[in-house]
Amino acid sequence: MGIFSRHNHRPSSFLPRYVVFFAFMFLALLLYFEVDNLVSQTKTIVGHNLEPTPWHVFPVKSFDEESTYSKASTIIQCSYLTCSSSSLVTNIPRSTNSKTTESNSCPSFFRSIGYDLEPWAKSRISMSHVMEAQKYAAFRVVIVGGKLFVDFYYACVQSRAMFTIWGILQLLRRYPGKVPDVDLMFDCMDKPIIDRAEHASMPLPLFRYCTSPHHFDIPFPDWSFWGWSETHISPWNEEFKSIKQGSSSLSWGRKIPVAFWKGNPDVVSPIRIELLNCNNTEMWRARIMRQNWTEEERRGFQSSKLSKQCRYRYKIYAEGYAWSVSLKYILSCGSLPLIISPQYQDFLSRGLIPKKNYLSIPPFDLCPSIKAAVDWGNANPLEAEAIGKAAQDFMESLSMDRIYDYMYHLISEYAKLQDFVPVQPSSALEVCTNSVLCYADDKQKSLLRRSLAFPSDESPCTISR
Ligand SMILES: *[C@@H]1O[C@H](CO)[C@@H](O)[C@H](O)[C@H]1NC(C)=O
Ligand SMILES: *[C@@H]1O[C@H](CO)[C@@H](O)[C@H](O)[C@H]1NC(C)=O
Repeated sequence: MGIFSRHNHRPSSFLPRYVVFFAFMFLALLLYFEVDNLVSQTKTIVGHNLEPTPWHVFPVKSFDEESTYSKASTIIQCSYLTCSSSSLVTNIPRSTNSKTTESNSCPSFFRSIGYDLEPWAKSRISMSHVMEAQKYAAFRVVIVGGKLFVDFYYACVQSRAMFTIWGILQLLRRYPGKVPDVDLMFDCMDKPIIDRAEHASMPLPLFRYCTSPHHFDIPFPDWSFWGWSETHISPWNEEFKSIKQGSSSLSWGRKIPVAFWKGNPDVVSPIRIELLNCNNTEMWRARIMRQNWTEEERRGFQSSKLSKQCRYRYKIYAEGYAWSVSLKYILSCGSLPLIISPQYQDFLSRGLIPKKNYLSIPPFDLCPSIKAAVDWGNANPLEAEAIGKAAQDFMESLSMDRIYDYMYHLISEYAKLQDFVPVQPSSALEVCTNSVLCYADDKQKSLLRRSLAFPSDESPCTISR
């Protein structure tokens, strides 16, 4: 005892108050600049500190309406303090519908995964493949030990990043401990970009929502399976149910015997522009309606409800800027789908069989081809109805369970090709269910909560070779 304990008891008598004060101010300033630095550099799932992709520019989201303080607290709270805390959603209830008797083989189009990954079957996927692909990516997805890390390079339009990454998190929830470590690049814009001819010497693995026969891009289920906040589209399981219910309100005979299309023609899509010329129920048996999102938003999306668009016997699918998310909703109607020969494929469209699930409409001679298909269907109502039903059945068999299975197999097969061990990139932050919810607005939160996945008792379906 003695001198030291006395010092410990009364330190202030040895340090003048102003020194303590300045030391405190210095620390506060340091903290302030550190926080400021963090806030201005942290890239987030909603697009903070990110520019749009240079290969597809769109209006950048401004966060100016947020005060500096609230922006800072959101970023610190959501990106830095949420995933590490132990308040994670625990006690996840097990899904109860374990159907063990049913054969658990995947739909046959899951074999497309083999085709999509074939370019790397011999070379395998090296870190330099991934790093080259980064030049075309909006974000990087790294899964290590069941945890998800995301590195953001560019903003995604609307809430695509949020719902896409949410989907991957739900896959991790559905199959805990089963999803392998993986490191992959993702672009969230519409058009495939890795041209097969241009990149023949070194194919680059890049995930996106669609591909084409001329591209290496790897198709992955699009964000709208978990909901599309901006257009009031619900998570897939709910949306399908509501469309099916809506379609059953009219028997085949009472459905309007013409072909229907409603959408946005102003998306740089020549085929949609041409389709406007077919808007004549007498001459071409087609009704073409313009979707005006500004107008729809004003009226609360009442007239764009997908379940109300199944009153026609025929539904036209026309690609937009690239593939269109509308395909799955059109196929769900139970109406006969008239698919204008697409240039792009999403992961599920490879499962469709002409004359079984849809009729193919050649893009040339568009209006007469639509008329011919409608006239055939009206003359052969049983066959036409059966094709419509087969399309609806196909979509019904693609439940969310199957979507997760597709993601699981794609990611697993990709992971097997990696010739390196994925590690968390130093610039990537962990993203978890709660951190996505933390950034979501009320409308988004509702969709996210409704599309939460639960651990499966069953194994993923098996792909027959
Ligand atoms: C198609 O015709 C209908 C009925 O005449 C009309 O209400 C609708 O606005 C037309 N669609 C377009 C895209 O012009
Ligand atoms: C869409 O609706 C808004 C508001 O009703 C209107 O101002 C605008 O001109 C419409 N756009 C098109 C392309 O028809």
